[in-house]
Amino acid sequence: MTKMNALPNLPDGTDLLEHIKEDFLGFDTMYKLATGETTRRRYMDSTASTLMMGIANRAAQNFLQHYANTHSEMHFSARIATDSYHWVHERILKFVQADPDEYTCFFTGSGVTAGMNRIARTLKNFRSERDIVLVSIMEHHSNDLPHRKHGGKVIHIPVDTHESQMGCIDMDLLEKYLIEHRGRVNYVSVTGISNVTGIINPINKVAKLAHKYDAFIVVDAAQLAAHVPIIMSGNEDSEMDIDALLFSGHKTYTPGSPGVVIARKSFLSGIEPVEVGGGMVDRVFPEEYFVKDQFPDREEAGTPNILGAITLGAAIHILDRIGMDNVLEEDQMLTNLALREMINMNEVVIYGETNTRTCPRAGTISFNIKEMNHGLVAAVLNDYFNIAVRNECFCAHPYVEKMLQMTHAKQIEKAKADNVISWHDEPWMGMVRVSFGIYNSMEDVKFFAEALREIILKKDKFESEYFINSKGDYEHKEFKFTSDEYFCLSSTAEREILG
Ligand SMILES: Cc1ncc(COP(=O)(O)O)c(C=O)c1O
Repeated sequence: MTKMNALPNLPDGTDLLEHIKEDFLGFDTMYKLATGETTRRRYMDSTASTLMMGIANRAAQNFLQHYANTHSEMHFSARIATDSYHWVHERILKFVQADPDEYTCFFTGSGVTAGMNRIARTLKNFRSERDIVLVSIMEHHSNDLPHRKHGGKVIHIPVDTHESQMGCIDMDLLEKYLIEHRGRVNYVSVTGISNVTGIINPINKVAKLAHKYDAFIVVDAAQLAAHVPIIMSGNEDSEMDIDALLFSGHKTYTPGSPGVVIARKSFLSGIEPVEVGGGMVDRVFPEEYFVKDQFPDREEAGTPNILGAITLGAAIHILDRIGMDNVLEEDQMLTNLALREMINMNEVVIYGETNTRTCPRAGTISFNIKEMNHGLVAAVLNDYFNIAVRNECFCAHPYVEKMLQMTHAKQIEKAKADNVISWHDEPWMGMVRVSFGIYNSMEDVKFFAEALREIILKKDKFESEYFINSKGDYEHKEFKFTSDEYFCLSSTAEREILG
């Protein structure tokens, strides 16, 4: 497949993306299905976590030959580890186009969640007189609850006011709130891509609007980083620059890596870091201690997740070598193909605006099959087709509920009147989410669409083959799966002992 911006990524002219597409750990994992066949798993749950990029993993394995703690300084390995670890910070700043003079990058926790708690506390400290934080209703709980707990009073920007753009952030309302609470809004925090609908938010436009009313802009890039090019600073109009941005390494082809925060140094330099301990101090006395001025050290107390960060640095470098424009183009080809296939199925309900010209999406689609529980659909996709998807509410309860209510308003009303209990009568119940990564192909999408068609056709048959178990999950009546059949850590360790 020739891409518009195809780069001769490899010396022989091969497209790097095509070259690495199948080079992911777990790409070829085989499972036995309810049909008795053993087939390759098709991983379509990348919005939760992506698979490990093979080359990045191998680069990091090489690093392990030199592994040492970055807090040691004099021996050879410590110098290699420290230099490599620092390189990763610089590489990430470049990846998100953040000016290293103004911004710092540091690692915390295992995803966006820990960093968002840090940023909420930091910005509250920075402008304690400001008591309001604006977030959209489409946020993951990790970009909502930290602000409620540490940032101030959270006001949610609705997504149900633009009927023609269902599920998109309402910029007019955002401006209305900024005017209404002028002088009180400390910052606006929005997601770059919804983890429910895949809708891409215009983050640089949101930044311009926030700045116009003297509010800062924080971007939850948990979904954005692996799908869309990011320009934090150096925009033609500097009001479009982003003040802080966070992403999760485990959603960026590096399971086991840390969460990443990129923020203006000016937010952090005047105040004591939220976390204290070894590595972030110049001198410690029994009565007092002196925090380093130097970034990112002062923000990273304790021994960091060195191996995870190194692997992430390699993955980020590879994504940039492919070109994030190319990654986005490929991603939208998959997402748009899936949308087209699903729109043509009368029995499928897709949540959020589906016109991708007015409302672009990347990577994620949530849906339901009419009159079928989302848990059952996810179970059948897994047990019969070896397609891994997620279902329920995706840690975004208010948004999922809002989308279900908007989409099924009539059915909900009727079901309530008829006293019928089913998934659309209980709007908080959930959806099925299919999501793509760079290892997915057009063939995967077609396979998925075929699977949906078959499920719709044999709805009653599948329904009759499952029961709801004591955990409330759909379980096959005959087909049984046990994890130990495929992986047991103690026996794997034992096998390794024996060689
Ligand atoms: C949009 C969004 N924000 C935040 C998070 C939280 O990320 P993590 O679990 O890596 O902390 C997620 C995870 O799914 C997400 O999709």
